[in-house]
Amino acid sequence: MLTIALSKGRMQDDALALFARAGHLVAESELNSRKLIVSTTDGRYSFVLVKPGDAPTYVEYGVADAGVCGRDVLMESRADVHEPLDLKFGRCKIAVAGKREVLGEDYNLLATVRVGTKYPRIATDYFHAKGVPIEVITLSGSVELAPLLGLSDRIVDLVETGQTLKENGLEVIDVIAESLASPTHVIPARTASHAPHVADTSRSSGVKRKRRASVSFFNHEKKSFSSCSR
Ligand code: PRP
Repeated sequence: MLTIALSKGRMQDDALALFARAGHLVAESELNSRKLIVSTTDGRYSFVLVKPGDAPTYVEYGVADAGVCGRDVLMESRADVHEPLDLKFGRCKIAVAGKREVLGEDYNLLATVRVGTKYPRIATDYFHAKGVPIEVITLSGSVELAPLLGLSDRIVDLVETGQTLKENGLEVIDVIAESLASPTHVIPARTASHAPHVADTSRSSGVKRKRRASVSFFNHEKKSFSSCSR
């Protein structure tokens, strides 16, 4: 049985539907329970239901054979992993946003830009690359509140439909990563022998694999997984 660390939340249903289309179903009774580990009825896959940010950890430490999470999570975690497969759902952007009335504001006018975000590393890398000093205010959700209440000048956050920004009077200033928040598979080197099973699941579900996949297995021996991304 292959153990998969599956991000709870918006991508959970899409991921389980993908496996279901490949014939690997989880019983409704399991999904409606409070169990944190559920299995497919054919006994081939076990899903460990985790917070998205924890998925790389379960994989990197080898307690899960593979994982499904957004690339935003991988970028932020900096886990030493391999990313061979794009599942083609959960598309969104990681963007810098702010209040409409200050969109044209020059960063040079701000001694230090305060940035509210769930992604302190991504935000720091982005602004440092521009030579802009920032103070990161790390938040765990409802990040759009920060500029509204004067907690921050900018936010770095996921944008999917753009509705949350719009309804809170915010706009995208710059896109840090386009389509890079796609869910990802993650696989540690020690379970290399399992990799083909996950790739097969994707193929049999009609998910087209690309040579340079924008999704992921992550592992320590990238060579051993290179064939999975082709
Ligand atoms: C995410 C993200 C934005 C919102 C973007 O938050 O942080 O707030 O979704 O989606 P949209 O562009 O479709 O409006 P999430 O729903 O995960 O909740 P959170 O604020 O608690 O992190």
